[in-house]
Amino acid sequence: MPGKTGIIRRAARSYRDEMLPVSGNSREHAGLHHTFSMAERAAVYRAIFERRDVRRNFLPTPVPDHILMRLLTAAHHAGSVGFMQPWDFVVVRDRAIKSAVKKLFLKANAEAATRYQGKRAALYRNLKLEGIEEAPINIGVTCSRQRGGPHVLGRSMVRDTDLYSTCCAIQNLWLAARTEGIGVGWVSILDHSALKRMLGVPKSVTVLAYLCLGYVSNFAARPDLETAGWRERIPLKHLIHYESWGNTVTERKGRR
Ligand SMILES: Cc1cc2nc3c(=O)[nH]c(=O)nc-3n(C[C@H](O)[C@H](O)[C@H](O)COP(=O)(O)O)c2cc1C
Repeated sequence: MPGKTGIIRRAARSYRDEMLPVSGNSREHAGLHHTFSMAERAAVYRAIFERRDVRRNFLPTPVPDHILMRLLTAAHHAGSVGFMQPWDFVVVRDRAIKSAVKKLFLKANAEAATRYQGKRAALYRNLKLEGIEEAPINIGVTCSRQRGGPHVLGRSMVRDTDLYSTCCAIQNLWLAARTEGIGVGWVSILDHSALKRMLGVPKSVTVLAYLCLGYVSNFAARPDLETAGWRERIPLKHLIHYESWGNTVTERKGRR
């Protein structure tokens, strides 16, 4: 399997190989003139492949306000159902709030640990699954499910599209943060009702995520859970179905 740099280089190379032979008007005709330059593409793919969920290695270096604003602006430019923009961001720097949230995590995590047995339980207990107090900034991301009124365009059949939209905003922030050298960790092992009260979030609003952000001494090359032996990345070819479910490359080969 190619390394990270290999993947990024390959992504950028495919631009050069595929796009260069097409020139002038025919490029425009084919819609290729909107393609990013090779360097720009490489930067985007680098952010994608080098993004990590960060729970350790946070540094106390403060995150300047204007950088935080860049990240939140990136989040705010995510797609959202009917342009609903259902998100809000509760920025937490206060140590007392962080420590209260950490207590919530410890409780929820102790409960979660009881779901595993034997070696798996021991492995779970060794995982570091949050960096709440170490991270200079925590952000509670919410979804206002009533924003935009009762009839949000595109939401009539799938009500949860507002939640999906908020996840898109988080992913934007996560990627933008990586380009700034800022690590982001998503902590979901929390009692969200208690978290909601702690952050003073109104009843009608859903707390969707709790993020920990800060500069880091190191971005891991692979997901921590993979390194710890918890779970591996599934080969992509097992997950792509051609025309209908079950028709994967592996299945097709098997059939021949
Ligand atoms: C919705 C969501 C919830 C997550 N919750 C947690 C969490 O509570 N604790 C944790 O350590 N990681 C959490 N993660 C991070 C995942 O464990 C991580 O994304 C995955 O292991 C892949 O690693 P990577 O993000 O470094 O590629 C969460 C990620 C997502 C998308």
